[in-house]
Amino acid sequence: MRNFISVHDVSDINALVKKALEYKADPFRDKSLGKNKRMGCLFLNPSMRTRLSTQIAAQNLGMDVIVFNVGQEGWALEFEEEAIMSGNTVEHVKDAAPILGKYFDILAIRTFPSLKNREDDYSELFIRQFIKYAGIPVVSLESATLHPLQSLTDVITISENLKEKKKPKIVLTWAPHVKPLPQCVANSFSQWINGWGEADFVITHPEDYELDAQFTGNAKITHNQDEALKGADFVYVKNWSTFNDYGKIYCNDPEWMLTNEKLKQTNDAIVMHCLPVRRNVELSDEVLDGPHSRVTQQASNRVCAAQSVLSEMLKS
Ligand code: CP
Repeated sequence: MRNFISVHDVSDINALVKKALEYKADPFRDKSLGKNKRMGCLFLNPSMRTRLSTQIAAQNLGMDVIVFNVGQEGWALEFEEEAIMSGNTVEHVKDAAPILGKYFDILAIRTFPSLKNREDDYSELFIRQFIKYAGIPVVSLESATLHPLQSLTDVITISENLKEKKKPKIVLTWAPHVKPLPQCVANSFSQWINGWGEADFVITHPEDYELDAQFTGNAKITHNQDEALKGADFVYVKNWSTFNDYGKIYCNDPEWMLTNEKLKQTNDAIVMHCLPVRRNVELSDEVLDGPHSRVTQQASNRVCAAQSVLSEMLKS
């Protein structure tokens, strides 16, 4: 594996899940693999889970890690080719990235979308420019449109919680939120569940919250949340802002919040959320604190997910 940017960098999802679960059972089984290797983690945006779990994963493999909060501590980077840099940006990525490529063996980067210009965000300019100019493997810690380490974690957590041999019904449901959020987690979850191919996949959201079809693929899409929840084995809750009229909040109907009453329609479903979560806006306290919730298990699996990816990169 050269880079880890999307599901397309993974040749066998189930093999990667198996590897992650082996690391979960024995985190130090490859503690010499990353000896004398250094990873740089660049954060242009805030994070708790991704930042800590990726560091722990790298350390479990014996790597050295340096975290750099570019967004707060670094020079403002320019990403556009042939930019006339007479504005606020101080350094071009084509000057900064090759230096990072000399300091580190792997570069991990978190960037968010602007949610202002869909074409720019969906071109993934930031991460593409780092790949182009750093000359070393790049891991996405969430990009403008995708969050692959989260999605691998999600597939691992679903695999651990499969109750029956039959294909599970997995429902991705939109939830209300007070701020316009990226589509990354929903896009990425859809891409991975489609790539995994071992579920009946349903996406439910209010009108106007359609996701990019390149990620939703053949998922069944409905505006009727109750219909979607019927018989569900897994319910993944996430807010996202509008894709077509980009980055807006249209309907924010509190009826879309997941409650225990709604869960009665499911097949005793496991409830997932990537966190952070707005309690009693996206999900009710009773669901988050109740027996259906796997959000802590899910977040703890971020370590073994990152470890499986880093080990694949170190081996290649
Ligand atoms: N789920 C997730 O990416 O969490 P953080 O934003 O805290 O990293």
